[in-house]
Amino acid sequence: MTAPQTHLALPIPNGWFAVAWSRDLEEGQVQRVTAFGRELVLFRARSGKPVLLDAYCPHLGAHLAVGGRVFGESIRCPFHGWRFDERGRCVEIPRCAKPIPEKARLRSWELVEKDEMIFAWHHAEEKPPDWEIPTIEVIGHPDWTAPRRVDIDIAVHMQELAENNFDPVHFEFVHGMPAPPASDYVFSESGRFVRAESKVVRETPMGSFDTRLVRETFGLGLSTVVSDGIPGVGTMLFVSVTPIDAAHSKMRWLLTVTKNVADQHGEEFMSGIVKGVMDDVPIWENKIHRERPVMSELDKEIADFRRWTRQFYSGLGEA
Ligand code: FES
Ligand SMILES: [Fe+2]
Repeated sequence: MTAPQTHLALPIPNGWFAVAWSRDLEEGQVQRVTAFGRELVLFRARSGKPVLLDAYCPHLGAHLAVGGRVFGESIRCPFHGWRFDERGRCVEIPRCAKPIPEKARLRSWELVEKDEMIFAWHHAEEKPPDWEIPTIEVIGHPDWTAPRRVDIDIAVHMQELAENNFDPVHFEFVHGMPAPPASDYVFSESGRFVRAESKVVRETPMGSFDTRLVRETFGLGLSTVVSDGIPGVGTMLFVSVTPIDAAHSKMRWLLTVTKNVADQHGEEFMSGIVKGVMDDVPIWENKIHRERPVMSELDKEIADFRRWTRQFYSGLGEA
């Protein structure tokens, strides 16, 4: 029997993944979130704290994001009014005098809010977080523009998006540009991050500069692409990818540039990279995931990257 031709050879990875933009969730608001192949409810309690719970009420199964309301630090189910706190415990069954059943609880998800996003920790075996989300210093820095946001939904497993950064050959064929120069790789001590750096000499009206393109990947869902080397001039793209399920991904980008380049190149730069990723979409959405691809000597980066990514999947076994 031949293997099914799908992306589904890979499970949903473990790690920190964005579930919302911070500014889209105001105090008292409730949002429906589909992520990790599950239905979830996200709300911002009156204290300002974001809370993420499994969405289906343990009573009769109503979806808490469809008509659910924030009550103080809890959310009230729209169907019969049971209330759940930030840890997912039922704290009230209206007009019921008996103790609340132990089983009246929802799974609650650990959240971190930073870099303008709300991130949830997903682990297939429900293990606690073992790495921290980086703080991106140029976000909010006075010399840099207010970050622009882009949302892109793509019908593919997120592994394919992650691999793109480590596939120099496709730049020529998909993006019509020369392959980026060879990169130096450094794996962090924890093993959870990779930093790839390539050097390019750039000719500019101000002279010739040794510039760097630095790509950092944090777990499987977060990465930054920073270019620097020209004094006072820089660009930074922060990419977050969230697994909606094993065959759908949501990209959220934050793009910021130093203010001195924004007026001259900001728009072109932004539309250039949006167009760039759109070139990849038809390839991604129609490809299959080959677990054991035939590789050439040009694919060393992909092979190394794939080996590194295995740590983020539960139940994949040894390579
Ligand atoms: S279904 Fe939620 S309270 Fe009844
Ligand atoms: Fe690409």
